[in-house]
Amino acid sequence: MKLLLLCLGLTLVCAHPEENHDVMTSNYDMSKISGEWYTILLASDVKEKVEEEGSFRMFVESIQALGNSSLLIKCHKRVNEECAERTFVCDETEEKGVYGVAYDGYNRLQITEAAYNDYVILYVLNFNNEKKSQVLGLQARTPDVSPQLKKRFEELCQNHGIPKENVLDVNSADPCSQARGSYGDLASSAE
Ligand SMILES: *[C@@H]1O[C@H](CO)[C@@H](O)[C@H](O)[C@H]1NC(C)=O
Repeated sequence: MKLLLLCLGLTLVCAHPEENHDVMTSNYDMSKISGEWYTILLASDVKEKVEEEGSFRMFVESIQALGNSSLLIKCHKRVNEECAERTFVCDETEEKGVYGVAYDGYNRLQITEAAYNDYVILYVLNFNNEKKSQVLGLQARTPDVSPQLKKRFEELCQNHGIPKENVLDVNSADPCSQARGSYGDLASSAE
């Protein structure tokens, strides 16, 4: 009987690994954002930005919080039918938790929501000439995420005025998933 109760108790404790108690919406500990990620969903109010040839059709591989409060974001994207690695150093702006980086114009990048062991949602404001656009990305620790999390992301996009039809499921269409981490990776050439 005791054993049965113990089993039941453990089941209850473990049955909801994705429950929302770990979700952060401010005061992020950037060291806990560090590590490997998979880009699952991308969305933009300018849909071309995240469509196949778009500048933000970009797959995050890892994020690293540097000691000087900058972020190192390693990504890959398809360029001319080939997989190319792109590494960005995003320096923290005068605003805490907001990072600036030049790419396709200039970008202000921040986190809008995170569960460190599960997912992180990045929000990018892109300024290109006079045009301003928004890009949101759902990054997860593993390539598989729950339908609930995808829903949550769509909700957040809607809050930013981005309709559901502008949310693209890109993970299954990652052209470089086979080659992940194995092309032109300077950091791993030390062996
Ligand atoms: C932080 O360090 C990285 C890597 O050395 C460098 O590229 C970046 O410019 C530095 N950031 C600041 C704000 O100095």
